[in-house]
Amino acid sequence: MTIHDLDTPALVVDLDVMERNLSRMADYARAHGLRLRPHTKTHKIPALGARQLALGAVGLTVAKVSEAEVMLAAGEGDLLIAYPIFGTEKMRRLVEVARRSRVTVSVDSVEAARPIAEAARSAGVSIGVLAEVDAGLHRVGVRPEVFVDLLRGLAGLDGIALRGMAFYPGHIKNQDLAAVGVLSDLISGLVREAAAAGFELPVVSGGSTPTEWNSHLVKGMNEIRPGTYIFNDRNTIISGACQAEDCAATIIATVVSTAVPGQFVIDGGSKTFSSDKAAAEGFGVFLDAPDALFEKMNEEHGYVKHAGHQRKVGERVRILPNHICVAVNLHERIYGVRGEEVVETWTVDGRGKLQ
Ligand SMILES: Cc1ncc(COP(=O)(O)O)c(C=O)c1O
Repeated sequence: MTIHDLDTPALVVDLDVMERNLSRMADYARAHGLRLRPHTKTHKIPALGARQLALGAVGLTVAKVSEAEVMLAAGEGDLLIAYPIFGTEKMRRLVEVARRSRVTVSVDSVEAARPIAEAARSAGVSIGVLAEVDAGLHRVGVRPEVFVDLLRGLAGLDGIALRGMAFYPGHIKNQDLAAVGVLSDLISGLVREAAAAGFELPVVSGGSTPTEWNSHLVKGMNEIRPGTYIFNDRNTIISGACQAEDCAATIIATVVSTAVPGQFVIDGGSKTFSSDKAAAEGFGVFLDAPDALFEKMNEEHGYVKHAGHQRKVGERVRILPNHICVAVNLHERIYGVRGEEVVETWTVDGRGKLQ
């Protein structure tokens, strides 16, 4: 089967590019003595998690207990749930994951950690936690001033193992070395403060795709969790962390209407691409058609304005999405290709896992 035989819209992954991205990151982490724990939110496919582990990743990252359940299939596991999970049903499922794999959860409060400790204690399983600090994104994580208080609170809970510290530098969206320097001072300062208070932090886990190649500049950090790097996307290009030729995943769509002058409509809208905006105009980019602007979407329609070449109904176009992780989540299956040959079909087992 070739890409021309695929029904559209279809999300295809160029395996040569993906494999280059995977090896480049694995080599970088190895060269700098950083443990690599890829976030699987981007691909959501155990077979790809298995490839990351085979290339030397120390374990995998997920955001949900249900994603952890899916990633158990990636192989001998060491899972980090990088999200402050809460709720009785989640605790029940977390304990089951912990029976089958080493598991650690990032938390930023004693309130979130206490039920984990209780569940682990009563089930007789071991669950670790990382104390999360806000490194500047202002999403989750305690303020740096009270980080040691969080460590003390977590250390006082019977049933969990305090394994270290977590942060996510999602506020650094470009190659801003000054911001990386500020981050480095913050993290190394907190590691020192923690040590002075009697807390060794074996794991200091951070990292992202925009900061991927600057990770070694963050003193004290010893584990990185990039996710998007496996495929890259338009946002990664804009961040300066990759070039267009490093983007592995694109969506093939078909032109279904040219009725409105100066416009063509493709057979994918927000149900196919998601409506994530990029720092640049449009909901994705036509790599081979710079005159085309993907300016608007309904659920099933993509509105594309063009200045020159008019497409014909039935013509196929290829679009690089703004944010590949949310696009993958919308697809039941994605296809691995070499050139035009479709050589792999993966079901996205981790899609739609909300709990
Ligand atoms: C907690 C956490 N860690 C790691 C990542 C991976 O970041 P990126 O996709 O930029 O590689 C994310 C992405 O949202 C995240 O939320």
